[in-house]
Amino acid sequence: MATKFLRLGPFELVVLANDRGFSIRGAISCRLWGSFYNRLRRWRIGDTSSRKTQERAEQAVFDQTQEQKALMERVRTIQWYHSIDLDHQIVTPGLYDHRQILAQYYLPERMDGLRVLDVGTFDGFWAFEFEKRGANEVVAMDIEQVNDLDLPPTMKDLMSPEELSRKHGKGFAVAHEIRKSQVRREVLNVYDLSAARVGKFDIVHIGDILLHLMNPMKALQRVFEVTAGYALISECFSPDLDRLGCERILQYCGGATECTWWSFSLGALEQMIFDAGFQKVELVNRFKFGPQGKPGTRHHAVFRAFPRF
Ligand SMILES: C[S@@+](CC[C@H](N)C(=O)[O-])C[C@H]1O[C@@H](n2cnc3c(N)ncnc32)[C@H](O)[C@@H]1O
Repeated sequence: MATKFLRLGPFELVVLANDRGFSIRGAISCRLWGSFYNRLRRWRIGDTSSRKTQERAEQAVFDQTQEQKALMERVRTIQWYHSIDLDHQIVTPGLYDHRQILAQYYLPERMDGLRVLDVGTFDGFWAFEFEKRGANEVVAMDIEQVNDLDLPPTMKDLMSPEELSRKHGKGFAVAHEIRKSQVRREVLNVYDLSAARVGKFDIVHIGDILLHLMNPMKALQRVFEVTAGYALISECFSPDLDRLGCERILQYCGGATECTWWSFSLGALEQMIFDAGFQKVELVNRFKFGPQGKPGTRHHAVFRAFPRF
């Protein structure tokens, strides 16, 4: 076997020859090459890792889009009353968007340490808002099913058993889960509300329910019993009734249309709150509000009612 080394500067040629054949190998060996090679290697590794980072980012966007799509599907299955921000760039398509009129209610900026009750919570907009403001405990109550609404018996007779047993609270459950909320929902009729059952609360919110009740006075009395701090009572009213000159007029509507039993004058509402037991009643605000597409069509009043002076 014969081996021959040929070297010219950094270039090296090795020629190997024997009875079975011969081979030629080339090599470059110098410090310059070493640093060039290392640079090339670092660039290759860096390139791979940045490609991986980009792939991971693309996957994350894809996952997020998939998750959002799945959430949207769930949201779409529900007929929403409230527009609720689900914290995933998704807002439920509610019939009423209270987010734009929140300031009209003069809620405390923070509710830290407070125990708060939301009566007739529906999809839970108000309960989630109280939670967002730091309330220590929020209880959201509502009826179980359509049959528990104060519908006139003649209306119920016309409804199928399926319609009457349709459950309330589906929207609340979805929003509650997606928002990872700690609000506790209780199935409870306002007429059955009592301190023995749920304790007393720093703030009791009851919004847009009294007109849907056959016995709004009884509901207000129940609210009075569980109020330790104050009750925040918001309700529709009809200024036309106040213009009739008497102070306490209410119109009987009969409950057949949208389960609406009453149209209240402002004076009547205020007196009803007093007569339920509250000693101090403040009219916080009055403003116009309406469902989507009909903004400003209904007159609303917000009262703060204190059990004692
Ligand atoms: C018009 S929505 C108002 C929703 C919410 N309180 C607000 O202010 O946006 C009326 C709500 O009161 C509930 N409700 C009706 N009758 C009730 C009753 N007897 N006891 C408790 N909740 C009742 C309904 O199920 C519905 O959630």
